[in-house]
Amino acid sequence: MNFWTDKRVMLTGGGGFIGSHTERLLRQRNPKSVFVARRKEYDLTREHDVARLFHEHPADVVVHLAGLVGGILALKTKPVEYCSANLLMNTFMLHHAWKTGVQRFLAIGAGCGYPQHAPTPLKEDDLWNGFPQPDTAPYALAKRAFTVQSSSYAAQYGFKSITAIPGNVYGPNDNFDLTTANVVPALVRKFVEAADKTAPSVEVWSFALMNGTASKKASASSTVMLRTSAMLRPLYRTSNVSRL
Ligand SMILES: NC(=O)c1ccc[n+]([C@@H]2O[C@H](COP(=O)([O-])OP(=O)(O)OC[C@H]3O[C@@H](n4cnc5c(N)ncnc54)[C@H](OP(=O)(O)O)[C@@H]3O)[C@@H](O)[C@H]2O)c1
Repeated sequence: MNFWTDKRVMLTGGGGFIGSHTERLLRQRNPKSVFVARRKEYDLTREHDVARLFHEHPADVVVHLAGLVGGILALKTKPVEYCSANLLMNTFMLHHAWKTGVQRFLAIGAGCGYPQHAPTPLKEDDLWNGFPQPDTAPYALAKRAFTVQSSSYAAQYGFKSITAIPGNVYGPNDNFDLTTANVVPALVRKFVEAADKTAPSVEVWSFALMNGTASKKASASSTVMLRTSAMLRPLYRTSNVSRL
């Protein structure tokens, strides 16, 4: 019997890029049940839908990967949506997980939540030592705020939740649409198309990778997250909240 054997697991974002890898790896661990919450049935930006989700599918462990994700162009065009949707989803998911007695809650943060000028390689303690890259801030700070929400539920209610923060993630099933893609899949597509056309140059918009952000294959990131939720080792400590 392993950690997962008797657990009912709820996975959000399971229809997405990282979620598809996480679902596969999660099922390999043979939990008691896995329920994948999809947006067409449960819009997690609506509290009523989130309450209904936990009522219809009670869970012991929640792996919360749902998020409104976009590249630089999308973030610059619709900063309100990217900020609000992520704040709402995280707030409602955490609250109803606590309210319905979930044992462990794992959420995913974003590497771009780290300060723009944080020294590399990134260190956990630098998360609050500056402002993120301004174009990504509405999304990045909404994701960063979750670490404080999570620590608050731990401090006040003893609720076991944690945030895993991968850097750039890439791999099969990624989003290669240049209007919404993250930097790695956008670069892959641009260079593949340029090579096919033997183009003399490639236009690159982002220097995120050159800033030293670690990149991970999606399957590797998913494995780390599942191990994190089993061990629940705090990646972000309540004591850090005092720095705010
Ligand atoms: N890609 C990266 O490099 C990276 C790096 C660090 C962290 N992350 C984080 O990892 C998570 C997944 O990212 P991804 O790259 O896999 O993105 P993705 O492919 O766009 O997947 C996002 C998922 O979120 C779900 N979702 C979005 N809005 C929703 C809503 N209102 N209600 C319910 N579900 C909603 C979507 O559900 P449906 O499929 O049902 O529509 C989709 O499955 C995000 O939280 C992101 O911030 C990503």
